Amino acid sequence: MFVDCHTHILPGVDDGARTMEDALVMARMAVAAGTTRMFATPHGYTSTYHVDPAVVRESTRALQARLLAEDIDLMVLPAMEVHHAVVAASCQVAATGAKANVSSIDLQRLRSGAALGFGAYERPDYVLLEFPFTSWPEDAGTTVAALHEAGTQVVLAHPERYDELQYHPSLVDEVLREGAWLQLTTGSILGRFGPSAERLSRTWLTAGCIHIIASDAHNAVSRPPGIRAAYERVCEEWGLADAAARCVANADAIWSRALAHADSACQYP
Ligand SMILES: [Fe+2]
Repeated sequence: MFVDCHTHILPGVDDGARTMEDALVMARMAVAAGTTRMFATPHGYTSTYHVDPAVVRESTRALQARLLAEDIDLMVLPAMEVHHAVVAASCQVAATGAKANVSSIDLQRLRSGAALGFGAYERPDYVLLEFPFTSWPEDAGTTVAALHEAGTQVVLAHPERYDELQYHPSLVDEVLREGAWLQLTTGSILGRFGPSAERLSRTWLTAGCIHIIASDAHNAVSRPPGIRAAYERVCEEWGLADAAARCVANADAIWSRALAHADSACQYP
């Protein structure tokens, strides 16, 4: 029943699954926890990892073929966790000496197909955007606004884990004002990322400003896939069933849009 919008399940491309066998273990765990559809979102443009979009698409096709062969009832579509690097703000455009516009970098990457969002390659409906963990970008609001204006809605990856938001939660208001969706991580809800991330998760869910719950799964042990445990905690222990249901509906909406644009060569069932 669940759509997982943030996973590192593709084997051997970043710090997620190391082998196809690892990926299959993660897939079986996800299905056992109620996940029927999943986006593979390997890292793009971090200082450590960048997975080429062509590799993402091909690796997703290979994984889907193995899932079918192994009779694992999980559909996977390609996407990317695009890193919005604050350091890019000081980049110099060599030819002109002008400062690069960071917002335009994200936009250009999506438009050129150098980054993958959810949906049509050249004009995705949504993009999973990651900000630096230790510093809140000066251009956070303008980045979200520029993408939104171009028809792409930002899904901000795991804001509850960003240091500056844990100290100054109201900083997130500027991106919410510009239309960003916030994606909470299941591990944060379950207390695996410490009390600050758990507290912030609950505060924002209570305030009604969380849009997506996703696993950000990297492996089967320390950062496992599966949505159900976090969903049930939000519903039962925290008494926030409406908020949890809204997150499920939003993830369904992202999936529907992406599926409508899925590469026919993928031959998804
Ligand atoms: Fe991630």
